[in-house]
Amino acid sequence: MVRMDLREVLTGAVVMAPMTKGSNLPYRRLCVELGARVTISEMTVARRLKQRKKGEFALIRKFDGEPFFGVQLAGTNPEEMGWAAALVESRGADLVDLNCGCPIDHFTHKGLGAALGRQPARIRRIVESMKKAVSTTPVTVKLRLGWNDDDRNVLDQARAAVDGGADAIFVHGRTRNARYRFAADWDAIGTVVAAVSVPVIGNGDLLFPQDIETARARSGCAAVMSARGVLIKPWLFREVTDGYLDLTGEERVAIYRRYVALAKQHWGADAYGLERVTQFTRWHADFWHRYVRQRPDGTFPGLQTREQETNARSPLEAFLARPDGAALDYLTECLVNDREVDPAQAPEPVIVESRGRDRDRDPELVETEG
Ligand SMILES: Cc1cc2nc3c(=O)[nH]c(=O)nc-3n(C[C@H](O)[C@H](O)[C@H](O)COP(=O)(O)O)c2cc1C
Repeated sequence: MVRMDLREVLTGAVVMAPMTKGSNLPYRRLCVELGARVTISEMTVARRLKQRKKGEFALIRKFDGEPFFGVQLAGTNPEEMGWAAALVESRGADLVDLNCGCPIDHFTHKGLGAALGRQPARIRRIVESMKKAVSTTPVTVKLRLGWNDDDRNVLDQARAAVDGGADAIFVHGRTRNARYRFAADWDAIGTVVAAVSVPVIGNGDLLFPQDIETARARSGCAAVMSARGVLIKPWLFREVTDGYLDLTGEERVAIYRRYVALAKQHWGADAYGLERVTQFTRWHADFWHRYVRQRPDGTFPGLQTREQETNARSPLEAFLARPDGAALDYLTECLVNDREVDPAQAPEPVIVESRGRDRDRDPELVETEG
């Protein structure tokens, strides 16, 4: 098989980011149908592959027709990471990435994810080992700006990765401690572009085509990457070629139905399969409701502002904007059972007292950020 040149693949691309749970195979399929050309797996722990854990092997599976599929690995041991890189290459991965961004304590306490960012020399050794283990598959790293604002060492991390042989670098423009609290710093991403010779893929806060244009112009990145944006609106990929698409409620529901059909193909329509399909659809619905159209004054909502839709054109659009559990359950039930989504039939929200964002149920904050 002829390997595609990485720089060529990346140039101008909007990459679908690695997302635990979010980058599940049927959702990647949906995004590819909507125009995604480069997709990345959920974070996959090298140690768990070594232990032959079945669930971990499911994460590295490329689907037939997936144009360019990267597998993201997490680990700290250079030898083990080399072994895992060779394994994923043998399973068809088009790129293998080292996770240096996962902020979750469970992983950082073991030295994984963002904790690696504090050890540039180790990043270099791991990348060297991964490069040695693969034959032609490009090796990349995904970095944050640093651990916190007092320790923004992304340039050291990036140079170490390139010294180790990295073929490209992903940069999420926030520090580990910032989580999602602040806007991504595209100027800081630009400093990485200026410092290294390999392509840089910038990441953070992209939701509409003009966000992509601004981020590209500001940073000079070869490519950009979106995570929450494509969970909220998977048609972002189509907008890259077609420009802003003001989809109606019905058009959005058709896309959600397509996801459910792909999910049923993947997990099956028996009782076990339907349970998985329902769980995943409900999880995705918690992002889908966050979509807000272009405002009447022509401006666009930002990813960080978490606006509520006030510009709905139909009862269906007003319903799709509802963030409450009763609405999300009803939508999920209609989609999974292939029934009409009828706003008049939707249950009323169950009012529970809450102070601000509920950290226990917000899918952006629960065990999934990287
Ligand atoms: C649900 C979810 C799961 C994520 N899982 C991972 C992951 O497995 N690996 C990773 O490197 N980053 C992960 N991330 C972080 C994203 O890849 C991305 O860096 C971050 O969300 C910033 O991009 P955005 O502003 O477009 O959301 C995850 C993000 C979300 C929202």
